[in-house]
Amino acid sequence: MVISMRLFFAIQLNEEVKQQIEEIKAVFRRRNIYGNYVPKENLHITLAFLGENGAPDRVMELLEGIVFQPFEISVGGVRCSDKAWWVDVADSPELESLAGQIRHALADAGIPFDKKKFNPHVTFLRKPDDSAGRIKQINVEPVSMVVSCFVLMQSTQGKHNMIYTELGFVEATQNEERT
Ligand code: 2AM
Repeated sequence: MVISMRLFFAIQLNEEVKQQIEEIKAVFRRRNIYGNYVPKENLHITLAFLGENGAPDRVMELLEGIVFQPFEISVGGVRCSDKAWWVDVADSPELESLAGQIRHALADAGIPFDKKKFNPHVTFLRKPDDSAGRIKQINVEPVSMVVSCFVLMQSTQGKHNMIYTELGFVEATQNEERT
């Protein structure tokens, strides 16, 4: 039997960043803007989206080959399209490099994934109602966090929200101290 799972690689956010985004969501809610708000526990940055994958074991194997060192990211400006609202992640060569490494490993292994350009962000509201257009600008203090881990996530549809389950993770290696 072939097991198919909906998979993606992601960075989990720390409490401070999630709290900042919760405050943005609270501003929207206070203005009576309706839509599919992403629950706090589901907030994340996607590094690569695989979609339905029939060989999750092969994807798990790739985790062993990915090596990176801890780096800092900054999560800040709020942006939107017709379909969603999200918080941008500031340009970071280390973040680009990690996403690139994962995507190269997937491509080399012949594992399909969404090839759209990497655009790091955290979606917090999907399918906003028309009233979201009333929000012209929202000022948010950027928050930084250290990325010391990334995860392989399985996504399943729950009754009200998506349920994300970590299937595996890779921790950053620390620089060896010079003597
Ligand atoms: P989004 O937040 O911009 O929707 C799980 O669906 C995660 O994978 C989400 O963070 C989603 O990004 C991201 N993703 C990237 N490409 C996707 C695609 N083609 N379909 C669904 N989700 C995608």
